[in-house]
Amino acid sequence: MTASDSLPLTATRRFPPGFLWGAATAAYQIEGAAAEDGRTPSIWDTFSHTPGKVFEGHTGDVAVDHYHRFQDDVRLMADMGLTAYRFSVSWSRVQPTGRGPAVQKGLDFYRRLVDDLLAHGIEPVLTLYHWDLPQDLEDAGGWPHRATAERFAEYAGIVAGALGDRVGRWTTLNEPWCSAFLGYGSGVHAPGRTDPVAALRAAHHLNLGHGLAVQALRAALPPRAETSVSLNLHELRPLTSAPGDLDAVRRIDAVGNRVWLGPMLKGAYPDDLLRDTAHLTDWGFVRPGDLADIHQRLDTLGINYYTPTLVAAAREGDDAPRNDGHGASAHSPWPGSEDVAFHQPPGERTAMGWAIDPTGLYDLLLRVAGEYPGLPLLITENGAAFEDEVAADGTVHDPRRLAYVHGHLEAVHRAIADGADVRGYFLWSLLDNFEWAYGYAKRFGAVHVDYETQARTPKSTANWYARVARSGELPA
Ligand code: NOJ
Repeated sequence: MTASDSLPLTATRRFPPGFLWGAATAAYQIEGAAAEDGRTPSIWDTFSHTPGKVFEGHTGDVAVDHYHRFQDDVRLMADMGLTAYRFSVSWSRVQPTGRGPAVQKGLDFYRRLVDDLLAHGIEPVLTLYHWDLPQDLEDAGGWPHRATAERFAEYAGIVAGALGDRVGRWTTLNEPWCSAFLGYGSGVHAPGRTDPVAALRAAHHLNLGHGLAVQALRAALPPRAETSVSLNLHELRPLTSAPGDLDAVRRIDAVGNRVWLGPMLKGAYPDDLLRDTAHLTDWGFVRPGDLADIHQRLDTLGINYYTPTLVAAAREGDDAPRNDGHGASAHSPWPGSEDVAFHQPPGERTAMGWAIDPTGLYDLLLRVAGEYPGLPLLITENGAAFEDEVAADGTVHDPRRLAYVHGHLEAVHRAIADGADVRGYFLWSLLDNFEWAYGYAKRFGAVHVDYETQARTPKSTANWYARVARSGELPA
């Protein structure tokens, strides 16, 4: 054994062999081609075309035209040294009304994308649902309605049947918290409803859809295939150690985190969540057998992390700041926790106004690793929006994003050294893209996109990331 073999992981800052170096995107944010090859509107087409819902009326009609430029984009990924790419399938491209037979052209697009990834040695990591419900299913009741969960499992089976021979990593839902609570609670996301009971019903049927989809995937996929879900777990911090502030943490943890972790990983909703929301609903929409359906073995858990959340009990005379970082609305996205006040954590922030704090990622990873031992973790999103400038020579120098990613990778490295079983990291995002209610105003890409010409320019972060991915090691 040489001296360097015996050095702890922290000294070399080398990541474990096989660690996945990825980047992530989502269908509606990048594909465009909204009405091509049989695709019909999803709730995000409807929402973005509704005046006042998205910054300056931006839509995903064209986005970054990835549907037509995917080969260029795969080349960019290869140049970035990526060993994995996380993307989502547009349900309305594959099964336009959310029911009935699949559209072959839609499936063919994803087959060509996957084949190109594999030809470049990049592992595809497929997400079935990244927020773009077919509008027809919303018209029939959407996620608050039980049948949507059943339709989702059918759709999962269709995609698995078409791509199961070439995709090994499957994710059911991306950030179901946003689908349920921003989509049906605060209304800042599609479909824009503001009904706390509908939001809780949506949460349950997203959980059920996840469980039924895992079963459909396992029935259709070869045994080596891995299934997962990506959750935006909120790393919560109390403003003070006063009991009321600690209770605010508990409440937000229940309706933000344990509403998913409980049923998916333990087979039960947390008692305190049921208590906190009892004035809204008796949860009668949870039917016998649902929790067993939701509680499926997962091969990995995907965690999306950007910033910590600082909470307190609303004080007398306090106008209960609602700055929880999830968009302005008169309606809370936290059913049963309307008395919780959200505070701005100190320190530097990104263009989203989100505090930069890699210790939040470290703490979150150690918490999840401690609570769910034996469950491998993937960071399925982490990244930052900044106001990038294109220099006169056409280059894009983005030192703040680079420092953000560097700092968070250091936190991941430290978490691994301290026992968290983290298997990969996916930068959000590969490309600048449609940032939901913020339209194209917020740029998260490692690669800059000129929205007039669709020209792609790797930023300094992309070049730095390529060196890290190729060496498997963080520079000092
Ligand atoms: C979460 C979402 O999954 C993704 O679609 C979004 O663009 C990023 N976070 C940044 O807000």
